Amino acid sequence: MPKVRLPKIPDAVVPPPLRKPAKPGSAGTPKGQAPSDLKTAPERPSHGDRLVGVAKEAPVDALGWVDQRLAASGFLTGMLYRKVPKGTNWFYTLGSATLFAFIVQAVTGVFLAMYYTPSATQAYHSIAHINNDVPLGQFVHGMHKWGSSVMVILIFLHMGRTFFFGAYKYPRELNWVIGVVLLILTMTMAFTGYLLPFDQRSFWASVVGININGTGPIVGPYLSDFLRAGPELGATTLSRFYAIHMLLVPGAIIALIGAHMYLVVKLGTTAPPWVKATRPKVASPVAQLEAGVEGNGRVNGAGTRIDGAPIDGEGNGAEPA
Ligand code: HEM
Repeated sequence: MPKVRLPKIPDAVVPPPLRKPAKPGSAGTPKGQAPSDLKTAPERPSHGDRLVGVAKEAPVDALGWVDQRLAASGFLTGMLYRKVPKGTNWFYTLGSATLFAFIVQAVTGVFLAMYYTPSATQAYHSIAHINNDVPLGQFVHGMHKWGSSVMVILIFLHMGRTFFFGAYKYPRELNWVIGVVLLILTMTMAFTGYLLPFDQRSFWASVVGININGTGPIVGPYLSDFLRAGPELGATTLSRFYAIHMLLVPGAIIALIGAHMYLVVKLGTTAPPWVKATRPKVASPVAQLEAGVEGNGRVNGAGTRIDGAPIDGEGNGAEPA
């Protein structure tokens, strides 16, 4: 299996016990012969110097302490240095861009929630208060408002990329289905968030949206009744939309993004359709045995073919990043 070559990790982030000892004579080591009396030797660092040294190492030591207990660096190295197919290009950043847009929405949403009041009589005034009085309020509100459109545009572009690159095919069907649910949830966020300012525009747009939902087959009327939370759009609708927008849907989105990312890392990404498939080299039976090939003779325990390519269709041209 071809080895992924890892870049050299700088000494500054390696805990001291794991560092390679410096060669005698290199920077930081005494040049001459070792002094006969180490206690009185002039090179001996002062107490202050040693304290500065300890303080400099403290963050790395703390990280090392946490890492020893979580074993996270192994996982992170595997994830960050995983193979990507030949031909990977800027279109592959659309998923991460959608993720970034979601994080921006979550962070700005938390700050808006500190000042927003989800009541039919207070909602409009609390938004006016955020825009007019709260420091940076209009900026954060603007980021959240425009960010919602950005996320919707990005999620559609990302879905288009995965569709046109055939990434919905075996073995990624489940990730596609998770993606479809994420799309519905993202649209639900945009729809429920629109009512929250409770001004004329958001009120009537929500009336229209709820009525459109009501025209759906079989579940439509139930869905619109559920969303309206009463005979007319009003205070109960606002509370319901607020709970869906703040608690229910973000929680589900976070859980599903976790599953989506797990599958992306586990299965790898699909090569662009214009990259020619290459036939995996057939290894000798001895090499297959050494690589731990199972009964079907194709796969070793690590989820890769014996030639190192991930199992994602006939040769996706995977190569070290
Ligand atoms: C909150 C929404 C979403 C986030 C944060 C997200 C994130 C990501 C990321 C970071 C990747 C890997 C890099 C890339 O290919 O861009 C990815 C891959 C993928 N996503 Fe999404 N995604 C979302 C929604 C969707 C939607 C709506 C679909 C389709 C209906 C979808 C289907 C897929 C598939 C099939 C892959 C595998 C791509 C491949 O194998 O090349 N995702 N997603």
